[in-house]
Amino acid sequence: MSNTRNTEFNSKQTATYLKRQTSLRPQLAMVLGSGFQAALSHIEVDVEIPYGKLPGFLSVGVSGHVGRLVVGKLGGVPVLILKGRTHFYEGHEMEQLTFPVRVLADFGIRNLLLTNAAGGINKKFRPGDLMVLTDHINLMGSNPLRGPGLFGVPRFVDLTDVYDERLRGLLLQAGKKIKLRTQSGVYLAVAGPSYETPAEIRAYGRLGADAVGMSTVPEAIVARQCGLKVAGLSCITNLGAGMSKTPLSHQEVLAMAEQQKAKIAEFIKAFCELYAKS
Ligand code: HPA
Repeated sequence: MSNTRNTEFNSKQTATYLKRQTSLRPQLAMVLGSGFQAALSHIEVDVEIPYGKLPGFLSVGVSGHVGRLVVGKLGGVPVLILKGRTHFYEGHEMEQLTFPVRVLADFGIRNLLLTNAAGGINKKFRPGDLMVLTDHINLMGSNPLRGPGLFGVPRFVDLTDVYDERLRGLLLQAGKKIKLRTQSGVYLAVAGPSYETPAEIRAYGRLGADAVGMSTVPEAIVARQCGLKVAGLSCITNLGAGMSKTPLSHQEVLAMAEQQKAKIAEFIKAFCELYAKS
């Protein structure tokens, strides 16, 4: 039974293709966004596949993102890594953006860590901090489950506990272990690609957001529909618009991500080691 709706691709077929490329059967997967890709430097690679070779995957366009699926071992744990993602602001439908998550579920992944770069709204946050997602607010103006219902998965998905408590605990422990300032908070997702106005940042703060970004939420929703346990981690690359004297730029976001990349790579490895022990 197809579960990709309206597309010619079937996530089960892509998962079957993937199973033929590797004998490893990881239960943990990660989507590495801007700044997080250095985590790959610690991985023992078994197989690396460009998204272009995976039926139904979109190729990735933004600088800072190179689209590859990697299966290997990190901190001794088998992992599947999606290096780079496509974004809603590139003009794709949410169901296309989230197709890889359905493939992961069909492949046998049980736990998914979603990473991203985000602007800090909480006044206690500083650029370079990490933030473990406790919850999210979807202001992207759409929902990845919109469209015809799917066979075998719930139509109306409960989002009371999107971000799994146990995985959140492991992320906080990893932060302590490698001494990287790690906060917890609510991630608010916008469509982008423009950054926010200062008035929007003030408004989002009043709504209860601690950070703002342009990804992660569609993947988290689909992952929950597929029954995966989800964790989210933001690198606070800048303060929200109007909170600092300098205007925002993609270069600033990438520069902070670059500055933190060695620490972040250590963090992700520590998370895998703690995951293995838990
Ligand atoms: N706003 C939205 N998305 C972002 C930001 C921001 O300030 N920084 C990194 N991604």
